[in-house]
Amino acid sequence: MKKHIFLIGFMGVGKTTVSQKLSELMSADEIDTDAVIVRESGMPISEMFEKYGEEYFRGRETDLLRRLRTYSPAVISCGGGCVLREENVTVMRECGTIVLLTAEPRTVYFRVSGGDSRPILNGHMNVDYIAGLMEQRRPAYEGACDFSVRTDGKRPGQIAREILARVTDSGSLGTVEK
Ligand code: S3P
Repeated sequence: MKKHIFLIGFMGVGKTTVSQKLSELMSADEIDTDAVIVRESGMPISEMFEKYGEEYFRGRETDLLRRLRTYSPAVISCGGGCVLREENVTVMRECGTIVLLTAEPRTVYFRVSGGDSRPILNGHMNVDYIAGLMEQRRPAYEGACDFSVRTDGKRPGQIAREILARVTDSGSLGTVEK
């Protein structure tokens, strides 16, 4: 493995669980951008949004993605809004393959509705809101990715194997040098 694999997609599509499986399959490191931001800042994301606002959080995401350019190749699970800044997408393209995970709004709702750790959805936890935001973000997700994988009704291991097959076939595990 010579470059990163970035997993992108809406909240609740399974980026974190799939990236753990994929990193096991590939014997690679796994990095979760949200988890790193929480660890480095010492506060949960919802508290960061509350205290400093969304833009502050987005700035930390951009800062982390820039730093990842110098890390050894890893499977990277990206927060659902990472693709909203064009600069972030440019950095990801530079140093990795970008894989979009998708799920139906109803599937996402079932996966995320039990928690309140996602400030973007707090106060809007319903299928219609999720569907609307997903549609709004769709161009950013689809425009950023090298390929996409549907996750509805699939187990994390199966999704990870699908991704591995695609990256191996396309030779996208090759060198990052352009
Ligand atoms: C966000 C997604 C979250 C987290 C933050 C904002 C978003 O990550 O980064 O709450 O804007 O979609 P997950 O996609 O891992 O839930």
